[in-house]
Amino acid sequence: MNIVELQQKIIRLKKERDICILAHSYQAKEILEVADFTGDSYKLSVDAGKVSNSRIVMSGVRFMAETCKLLSPEKHIYLPNPDAGCAMADQMDRALISQVKEHYPEHTVVAYINTTAELKTICDVCVTSSSAVEICRKIRNDKLLFIPDCNLGAYVASQIPEKEFKLLSGGCPIHACVNTDDVRKARRLHPDALLLVHPECKPDVCAMADYIGSTSGIMEYAAASPHQEFIIGTEISIQEHLQYRCPGKRFYYLSQKLICPNMKSTTLMDLYRCVAGEGGEEILLDTDTITRARRCIDEMIRLGSA
Ligand code: 13P
Ligand code: SF4
Repeated sequence: MNIVELQQKIIRLKKERDICILAHSYQAKEILEVADFTGDSYKLSVDAGKVSNSRIVMSGVRFMAETCKLLSPEKHIYLPNPDAGCAMADQMDRALISQVKEHYPEHTVVAYINTTAELKTICDVCVTSSSAVEICRKIRNDKLLFIPDCNLGAYVASQIPEKEFKLLSGGCPIHACVNTDDVRKARRLHPDALLLVHPECKPDVCAMADYIGSTSGIMEYAAASPHQEFIIGTEISIQEHLQYRCPGKRFYYLSQKLICPNMKSTTLMDLYRCVAGEGGEEILLDTDTITRARRCIDEMIRLGSA
């Protein structure tokens, strides 16, 4: 069976089995092509709440599928590859953050959406990379404990100097690998290109960028810009997707280190097996976790649309 035949089977099966497919922009092109909704983690969270199908397949990583379950607890939510975790989401657990909170009783706990549902139960509000600045600005408290990504936290703090941010030393090991030497090398190779980076990159890398934004933010910026060449400082798939979307422009990756093995672990065959009911994992969360974790997702969507 070739890719197109497999895609046709997936499209047929999702209609027969009342399935909606959501796919994060870091997924492979052949997966994005059969998805009903694609985008960054904020857009997918909002889209997940609007779906009317009884089953949702979240092609991405585990915390994204958990977020779908929190938003639609009555639906069946599936992760096509059960091994697709997120190295950042696994860094901090509820026991650790419960202890940290004791030292900061006056702080609002802001959780990047890249956290487990269990950890979200003790946080106040979620943010994503595209919504973090706006939401942190709108939170009434001026004291924020921002977890787990200190790079994203430092970027948000730099945009809202009037607030006090307490950061912990967590983050995305993929984005944090990129350094200023990588930037200098890429700029030497592509002197006319603009540098677009994800805020999970280190502050010294972000300081050298022409634009800082989420995966969707980077894609929209590059597509709309009159510029012709771009160095892409986020997961390598975005450089490839942009090259298809804007064939007249040139896109280069900032570093070959920017490959997320978790995002790459889901294949079109995994998606097919999941849609056929022969593979993947159904996400199950207990009612108490759903009720408590959902509060900070709801608060994110409320502040994001206020
Ligand atoms: P976005 O919020 O840009 O979708 O990023 C999610 C992510 O995992 C980045 O590494
Ligand atoms: Fe997690 Fe980093 Fe992969 Fe995003 S790129 S899913 S934050 S490990």
